[in-house]
Amino acid sequence: MAENWVLTTTAQTPTNIAVIKYWGKRDETLILPVNSSISVTLDPTHLCTTTTVAVSPAFQQDRMWLNGKEISLSGGRYQNCLREIRSRAGDVQDKQKGIKIEKKDWEKLHVHIASYNNFPTAAGLASSAAGFACLVFALAKLMNVKEDLSKLSAIARQGSGSACRSLFGGFVKWIMGKEEDGSDSHAVQLVDEKHWNDLVIIIAVVSSRQKETSSTTGMRESVETSLLLKHRAEEIVPKRIVQMEEAIKNWDFASFAQLTCADSNQFHAVCLDTSPPIFYMNDTSHRIISCVEKWNRTEGSPQVAYTFDAGPNAVLIARDRKTAMQLLQRLLFHFPPNPDTDLNSYVIGDKSILKEAGI
Ligand code: DP6
Repeated sequence: MAENWVLTTTAQTPTNIAVIKYWGKRDETLILPVNSSISVTLDPTHLCTTTTVAVSPAFQQDRMWLNGKEISLSGGRYQNCLREIRSRAGDVQDKQKGIKIEKKDWEKLHVHIASYNNFPTAAGLASSAAGFACLVFALAKLMNVKEDLSKLSAIARQGSGSACRSLFGGFVKWIMGKEEDGSDSHAVQLVDEKHWNDLVIIIAVVSSRQKETSSTTGMRESVETSLLLKHRAEEIVPKRIVQMEEAIKNWDFASFAQLTCADSNQFHAVCLDTSPPIFYMNDTSHRIISCVEKWNRTEGSPQVAYTFDAGPNAVLIARDRKTAMQLLQRLLFHFPPNPDTDLNSYVIGDKSILKEAGI
């Protein structure tokens, strides 16, 4: 076989936002969670990772670049994903290029990986979710891995827990599983992206600065010190998962919003209950919550749900397009974009709304 060939594959994966949060691991190495979680996957044109993977006999070692900068692949998470995918690799043939790779060759061949996020990395916008999902999916395509998406999700999970949910569109559940080897801890699609397409998701970027406490460190400290986390994982979340699945199936926005907001607030309460306490939200985040709560109360039924991950940025889910327009107007009124406010940019799931709102 000639030594000067390169075979490449590119994949694109959107990020996902949890409406019932994952916070806490029962196994740090395999990344097994203390509770199941549910998320919504965003539109792939916004907040996504694009990853190109290449293989060539000329490559001397596995290497990776993130947003153009080389990063180390020595960490356990990358190594676990690479090992799991390699062990499932199949035969690959490209007749045009005259390339034939046999299953056994993959152990010797090295890959180069180039990954780009079109949004701030590690600012609580779930960049690792899109990143590892995309990496695993692209490698699986390159190496002709014949596993279904749920099996691939269990591999992406070993890169970053939330990544397992980004392999599917629509609403996705990460089943925590019971097995010690993690074989039953994977994602399943609850409904596809067409099921509830009235919903509009707006992300108000309060700050794109890198967060101080990573999710991994934060949740480790919560598991070690928060009694509220234990109560949440054992008593609260199992019930919420059932209720959330019902709400999604029945397009029940009132229950959906109530559960989403309550779960976000409880997650941040767990962060406060951690020793030392973790603060992910800031004053602007709190003001957004008050604004939405007041609006929902005035209307008599929820119009908008809010949820915050490990950072101050607000993810706002409007019940329909009309409400999303009103929401944008309210956000612009209360937080006019200027350098003196914290909230000076918006990322939105549907660009045409920005035009209609005159932004
Ligand atoms: C608050 O998946 O980033 O976004 O598994 O350690 O990589 P690791 O953590 P990560 O945590 C995400 C936490 C969260 C909630 C969620 O997405 O469910």
